[in-house]
Amino acid sequence: AYCVDTNKDRIELINKGIAPIYEPGLSELIERGKSTGLLKGTTDIIQALKKSEITFICVGTPSDKSGKIDLKYIKKVSEDIGNAIKEKNGYHVISVKSTVIPGTTDSQIIPIIERISKKKVGIDFGVCMTPEFLKEGNAVNDFFNPDKIVIGGFDKKSSDYMYRVFNAFWPDKYGSDVFLFCDLRTAEMIKYANNSFLAAKISFINEMANLSEIFGVDIKTVSKAMGMDKRISSQFLNAGLGFGGSCFPKDVQALYYAGMSAGYNSKILSATLEINKNQPIRPISTLKKVLNGLKGKVIAVLGLAFKPNTDDVRSAPSINIIKELLIEKAKIRAYDPVAIDNFKKESGIEEKSGVKYCSKMIDALKGSDAVIFVTEWEEFYKLNQDDFINNMNSPVIIDGRRIFDPEKFDGEKIIYRALGFSKSLDFVPN
Ligand code: UDX
Repeated sequence: AYCVDTNKDRIELINKGIAPIYEPGLSELIERGKSTGLLKGTTDIIQALKKSEITFICVGTPSDKSGKIDLKYIKKVSEDIGNAIKEKNGYHVISVKSTVIPGTTDSQIIPIIERISKKKVGIDFGVCMTPEFLKEGNAVNDFFNPDKIVIGGFDKKSSDYMYRVFNAFWPDKYGSDVFLFCDLRTAEMIKYANNSFLAAKISFINEMANLSEIFGVDIKTVSKAMGMDKRISSQFLNAGLGFGGSCFPKDVQALYYAGMSAGYNSKILSATLEINKNQPIRPISTLKKVLNGLKGKVIAVLGLAFKPNTDDVRSAPSINIIKELLIEKAKIRAYDPVAIDNFKKESGIEEKSGVKYCSKMIDALKGSDAVIFVTEWEEFYKLNQDDFINNMNSPVIIDGRRIFDPEKFDGEKIIYRALGFSKSLDFVPN
């Protein structure tokens, strides 16, 4: 297999057997690819396509400033593929893995490849759309244990080709039940519907959490009970400071704007985004009340990655939280086990603007007036009451990811506030 990228540094790392991103299990796979000689990185797309039969398009499909999908990388790679298969003899299958709005493969990718290669889809080359559903941090495991494999095909020949490829990875493990065959547009829509549903599920439980705080209810128990209903399922029912990452925010936005451009205003998608915009900054108003204002206060922010087990900070709730704290003129001590460098790059927030980046979890707590837990990294679960009392200036905990059991804290010594948790009986229905 050939990994093609325009980024030379990334290709060099792959050829040295090193994973260019932090992803559990990926280094081992790349190392094995290097030692067996089966995996090669290259920046030469023409050579890579000449020596292969199938090409997966995996380029990014970011949002532009207005929230609409930006197809510049898709268009560029389609041109490159067109140039490569122009020089190639024999049938070649191109499979789109990038998330694209329904109709993009039909109306953009195929015409570009045909125009440049002067070849004909269905005759000289086949096209599929095979969306990917893996999660960062668990990507390798998800890839080898998929719930479903969706194959959208231009024609039967293209789909059959992809089926043989995928089936080779999971021979007889699942039988054919795991495969779903459809056309290109349906496959494109499945990916958006899947991600939008999960994002909406998170925004839904976050809204229930916010209401639970008003009613003096613990959302954790509510989520647990809801998850026991098989129709609902317990996954993606953890209330928190909102969803981030490279997929949910951008995909929900892209689908929303695609609908809008066709005159359809999706209320669910817009509410999903709206709730997610406000969710990360909810701890700020809590802190303002507890600390009597934030000016000059030292706030520890623990967890910068958008979720545990990744160094990815794209659309991470931590970015908005820290920006908002800086607007309130607080001083910040930030910690993450792996994501500090990426956070600095992505957010552009330097130390001189009032954020001290700490290399140890305990250092971030030192001298702070409050701590906000933004990502549920495993090491945070080990902190106990004494760690907070002995290191912090005032032990105020805002638990944005429900890491701690409130019963474990002595209310006389620690102020503990958590998302979707309240013992207040102030609300009385009338
Ligand atoms: C997601 C989809 O899960 C995956 O199928 C798709 O291919 C890509 O997008 P990913 O972005 O890697 O994967 O992360 P995921 O584990 O889904 O989490 C996304 C965000 O939702 C994170 O910020 C996470 O903290 C948040 N989340 C998730 C919650 O707030 N509560 C939950 O119960 C689950």
